[in-house]
Amino acid sequence: MGRQVALDMAAEGTKVVASDIATEGILSLQKEIEAQGDTVWRGNVMASREQIDVLIKTTVETYGRIDILINNAGLLIPGTIEKPRMTLLTRLKLM
Ligand SMILES: NC(=O)c1ccc[n+]([C@@H]2O[C@H](COP(=O)([O-])OP(=O)(O)OC[C@H]3O[C@@H](n4cnc5c(N)ncnc54)[C@H](O)[C@@H]3O)[C@@H](O)[C@H]2O)c1
Repeated sequence: MGRQVALDMAAEGTKVVASDIATEGILSLQKEIEAQGDTVWRGNVMASREQIDVLIKTTVETYGRIDILINNAGLLIPGTIEKPRMTLLTRLKLM
């Protein structure tokens, strides 16, 4: 969903800054957006709070402001509330 939102907004002329913890996805999205024309684009892979802060700071320094913020990161690791898997708890930083 985030990929399509980024592509649609870039096609409308919006300056898109996107990030994803999955490197392959963000790199292919960057290529697609660049192929659409002159859209300015900065791809980042975030993994820590510090990297998020750098991304926000760089965005504001580059474009002056953030008009629209879309957070639609998705994480699906099958499990139940009664028996959550350790990977889910770890990735949500609950363990
Ligand atoms: N697809 C649907 O029909 C649907 C319906 C209702 C709600 N949603 C919600 O919308 C969101 C997006 O859904 P989707 O179908 O595009 O999911 P998706 O799994 O296709 O994409 C989610 C993306 O988020 C990235 N991501 C995960 N954790 C991240 C993090 N900490 N930082 C940055 N990126 C991170 C993943 O690498 C992945 O590229 C999810 O939260 C999902 O629960 C989706």
